[in-house]
Amino acid sequence: MRKNILAPSILSADFMNLGEDIEEAVKNGAEYIHFDVMDGMFVPNISFGLPVLASTRKGTRATLDVHLMITEPERYVEEFAKQGADIVTFHYEATKDMARTIALIKGAGAKVGVSVKPKTPVDVLFPYIKDLDMILVMSVEPGFGGQSFMEESLDRIAAIRAEAEKQGKELDIEVDGGIGAGNAGRVTAAGANVLVAGSAVFRGNIGNNVKALLNAMNGGEA
Ligand code: DX5
Ligand code: ZN
Repeated sequence: MRKNILAPSILSADFMNLGEDIEEAVKNGAEYIHFDVMDGMFVPNISFGLPVLASTRKGTRATLDVHLMITEPERYVEEFAKQGADIVTFHYEATKDMARTIALIKGAGAKVGVSVKPKTPVDVLFPYIKDLDMILVMSVEPGFGGQSFMEESLDRIAAIRAEAEKQGKELDIEVDGGIGAGNAGRVTAAGANVLVAGSAVFRGNIGNNVKALLNAMNGGEA
């Protein structure tokens, strides 16, 4: 069976205590740390970038999962890999050259993910599945934490899982936006195995939040 992984998004962490917040999440079972990098162009918000990633790399062994919400990601993917990203995910809508961007990430030694915004049909990614490690399904419009999960994402996840199975591909399917203990079980049941959560991890008691999410992802009562 595929292992379900929790990827806390530090967008909702307390940046004055970032190291402690990450440590608390990892100690309680989060295996990835999700970085939402925003450029104020591809999305209407600016977050953080390379220096935060590089510092985090020095302080944790967790898998660093970088989600680039930036225009022309091919300009920066190698640098994110070099400065500590284990997985580099870019947006289908943001690049004019999918093949080159995928090749640059692989060449830099990181795993490759591609993300689609909620209105982009998921089948645009089917021809690339064989070359990818992960597909990231956005379940909110990218740009901000704390939005509500879009229910239609469940069908999109299931369609990607069905296609990956048809192609015989062990693909990670990550979902990002509006995930909490109340819907995490439905998201994994639809076929996703990597769940991003920002506010549901970092608002309140981080350890308890992580445990509740992991339990719900694995089919427990919310
Ligand atoms: C949105 C970001 C998300 C966000 C998730 O653009 O990609 O990762 O931080 O936050 P929550 O879990 O609060 O919806
Ligand atoms: Zn994200």
